[in-house]
Amino acid sequence: MDTLFVGIMTKFIVVAFLLLHTSVSSSSSSSSSPGAAGMLKQLFQYIDDHQNQFVQRLREWVAVQSDSGDHTKWGEVERILNMTAVRIQEMGGTVDIADVGTHQLPSGETVSLPPVILAEFERDPKKATLCIYGHVDVQPAKMADGWTTDPFNLTEIKGNLYGRGATDNKGPVLAWLHAVESYQATEKEIPVNIKLIIEGLEEVGSYGLLELTRKRNDSFFADVDFIVISDNVWATRNPALTYGTRGSSYFFVEVDGPKLDFHSGVYGGSIQEPMSDLIALLGSLLDHTGKILVPGVTDDVAPLTEDERKLYDNISFDLEEMKSVAGVKHFLQDTKEEVLMARWRNPSLSIHGIQGAFSEPGTKTVIPKQVTGKFSIRQVPNMDPPDVERKVKEHLQQVFSTLKSPNRLRVTATVGAKPWVANLKNPQYVAGQRAVREVFGVEPELIREGSTIPIAQNFQEETGKSVMMLPIGGHDDGEHSQNEKISRYNYIEGTKLFAAYFYELSLVK
Ligand SMILES: *[C@@H]1O[C@H](CO)[C@@H](O)[C@H](O)[C@H]1NC(C)=O
Ligand SMILES: *[C@@H]1O[C@H](CO)[C@@H](O)[C@H](O)[C@H]1NC(C)=O
Ligand SMILES: *[C@@H]1O[C@H](CO)[C@@H](O)[C@H](O)[C@H]1NC(C)=O
Ligand SMILES: *[C@@H]1O[C@H](CO)[C@@H](O)[C@H](O)[C@H]1NC(C)=O
Ligand SMILES: [Zn+2]
Repeated sequence: MDTLFVGIMTKFIVVAFLLLHTSVSSSSSSSSSPGAAGMLKQLFQYIDDHQNQFVQRLREWVAVQSDSGDHTKWGEVERILNMTAVRIQEMGGTVDIADVGTHQLPSGETVSLPPVILAEFERDPKKATLCIYGHVDVQPAKMADGWTTDPFNLTEIKGNLYGRGATDNKGPVLAWLHAVESYQATEKEIPVNIKLIIEGLEEVGSYGLLELTRKRNDSFFADVDFIVISDNVWATRNPALTYGTRGSSYFFVEVDGPKLDFHSGVYGGSIQEPMSDLIALLGSLLDHTGKILVPGVTDDVAPLTEDERKLYDNISFDLEEMKSVAGVKHFLQDTKEEVLMARWRNPSLSIHGIQGAFSEPGTKTVIPKQVTGKFSIRQVPNMDPPDVERKVKEHLQQVFSTLKSPNRLRVTATVGAKPWVANLKNPQYVAGQRAVREVFGVEPELIREGSTIPIAQNFQEETGKSVMMLPIGGHDDGEHSQNEKISRYNYIEGTKLFAAYFYELSLVK
């Protein structure tokens, strides 16, 4: 979108909003009172009027190179956590800097972890309590990777704000704080109690966060009613609410044979090769239609209800466009709905590689003595990673026994992340839908993520509270890629969305 278009869109949306609210409040078909429409209008006006300041604050945050992947940069992670804590304190919040202990690096060295921020604004026991999760660390980025602009110098081009962390996740964290600010600055009571949990190690696996969540379940989390996460992006050009993510387990299948790598001209034909055993094993995992052949693994997949099936009709994906983006003639499924279900709500198995195999150019006639196949299974409700692991191991052992091989098989798996799905009937989804309608004038798409975001499942499982993902980033923001961005439009309208969400949440509780 170019700047002019964004300008027009913003005006259009403001006008549409005013019209919507005039009609809504006069017909009172919504639970919003006429006073509420006026209040939201003032909040949105404040947000529009201060957008340059909000962009400037994002520029200051993006300038901090808080790349958590490199532990020598954890000082910068601590610096951005400190800036976050100081900002919350300036806004009148109380901050608890929670120590989450130490971590052992692969080198054996033990390092202390950056802390986690637990914060809250003034509490009123009569109000519902919302806990917002976010992270202020980022993926690595350097010009040499192919960035067009300096990744740590937020640069606005044609309505897009380019910079590492702009959408993942500094922009959304600031948008939450600015939504709080809009109430404070216009002297309106925030209709829900706000808590925040902000970490600096999300990009490396949130070390220490799960343990902290457990430890604080009876204190920090005790009075929380809802947990909201804005750490993903829309699936299409339309706003979305995310209610599920797939889990995953990663498997290693090692076949170990002769003492040495041999010459096929000498030993070829006389020994059973680890590679052919491995190919047979990997080949037994799935068929050409993508169907997983491991017995029992898909037995626990939650059946598709009619209500869920209908959700896919309204997602504005275009099958032809999806094919052209992927550069494929056809997908394994025939319709858009089936493709989305395959990505979001059904399990999948992907073979990733073979370690120890000859993979360079040329014609080396080697018989590798040991090869390790690697594959993973994306899992969905109600699959259970330990159960999947057991079935996969049994299956591979069974196939291997039919090969009558003199080689040795060893199957290992990394600890699997569980899938997550939320109850769409929970009041916070109703509030999220209303807030999207109010700000964007459209119904949100109800989407899932095909990838794994363990945090949502961890919070839901450990605290027993309702969790929702409320993204504000655009589908083309390029998280983790070169030229990551958030559009000014998404950043500012996303701030309004959060402000409206606080209000709508107070009505549904
Ligand atoms: C932030 O850093 C400053 C300067 O090092 C320090 O004085 C302050 O206590 C820190 N604040 C928080 C909340 O961590
Ligand atoms: C960021 O980029 C702008 C525009 O190119 C430039 O004027 C400014 O000096 C840069 N800031 C830093 C800190 O590099
Ligand atoms: C799909 O969109 C139509 C038109 O906006 C709406 O009436 C219907 O309720 C939506 N279906 C679902 C399942 O959200
Ligand atoms: C955490 O506390 C909630 C009550 O707030 C409780 O329902 C839940 O079972 C607790 N979680 C665990 C793992 O004990
Ligand atoms: Zn993120």
